[in-house]
Amino acid sequence: MKPKVFITRQLPDAALEMIRPVCEVEIWPEELPAPRGVLLAKVAVLDGLLSMLTDKIDAELMERAPGLKVISNYAVGVDNIDIPEATRRGIIIGHTPGVLTETTADLAFGLLMAAARRIVEGDRYVRAGQWRTWSPMVLLGRDIHGATLGLVGLGRIGTAVARRAASFGMRVLYHSRTRRPDAEEQLGLIWADLDTVLREADFLSLHTPLTPETRHLINARTLNLMKNTAILVNTSRGGVVDQAALYAALQEGRLAGAALDVTDPEPLPMSDPLLTLPNCVIAPHIGSASIATRTKMAEMAAANLLAGLRGEMPPHPVNPEAWQKG
Ligand code: NAP
Ligand code: GLV
Ligand code: GLV
Repeated sequence: MKPKVFITRQLPDAALEMIRPVCEVEIWPEELPAPRGVLLAKVAVLDGLLSMLTDKIDAELMERAPGLKVISNYAVGVDNIDIPEATRRGIIIGHTPGVLTETTADLAFGLLMAAARRIVEGDRYVRAGQWRTWSPMVLLGRDIHGATLGLVGLGRIGTAVARRAASFGMRVLYHSRTRRPDAEEQLGLIWADLDTVLREADFLSLHTPLTPETRHLINARTLNLMKNTAILVNTSRGGVVDQAALYAALQEGRLAGAALDVTDPEPLPMSDPLLTLPNCVIAPHIGSASIATRTKMAEMAAANLLAGLRGEMPPHPVNPEAWQKG
């Protein structure tokens, strides 16, 4: 009998071409995620689940999925999954590191530039019919070249952003729990403690996973350390930032701007006060959203899923220790 698999959203064909021949597949066809109740009912008979970051995979769900061997997340971040619980149950988790690094770094740098040079505000200004002449004093932004970029988290994406920053003539400080002498030497990066990075940054870009330790890492206290001319860029997870504190800082002019690809919650409700601020650019979580990268992610997610179903270690496991138990 073929293993039973549920794919929680439509994906690039590349994934299905790999999965269809060897599995009995069901794909959730709608634009919005399957409601929780539907997901809980579906998992009862599954061997494998190909999930999105919009699916909450917790103990309750795993309890209802006695046959589940593998969860393949179509993302590098896995904060939507209770990993210790999966490990306890011998369920292996796969994710998609590396293939989306450069694409996400491009977006982070694009957001940085958009906020620095007020590109989105400029577009609104043109469309509103306000562009009546070239002006010496209108829409003045901040220079990127020569500025100091602070990075929090120097993993794959953080390092790719550092490379872009170095080529733009920025000075780059970083904070990560582990120092990276290789990157320091190759890219001229400087390690500093978090508070120093916050104090010195003209731009601060976040690249940690969302964990209990990083939740609200950017909060009223840490925002107060930042320059009032600084711009915050977040392409990590919305929960890394205390959004109420961010709104207050932007609104009161204690922070010059923000550019967010991720918010808490997602989607950001239309009533959210951040949407009233001209100095806040918001993208709908599109860090990895290039045609080529989403195709590579689909292939990687399919490969992780199929390996797990065969009882093999997925090429990109999150909790390899689960496999010992499984
Ligand atoms: P990664 O290579 O694992 O890098 C994460 C870095 O964060 C590591 O260098 C880690 O180093 C550091 N870190 C972890 N906890 C920390 C802490 N408490 N303080 C300081 N640094 C800490 O992951 P990645 O591939 O670069 O992806 C990073 C995150 O980006 C993902 O987890 C995901 O949430 C997000 N993401 C978003 C998008 C998007 O569409 N916007 C796309 C892809 C990824 P140490 O453990 O040594 O400190
Ligand atoms: C996207 O946010 C990812 O974690 O891949
Ligand atoms: C601006 O367009 C300039 O020529 O300085």
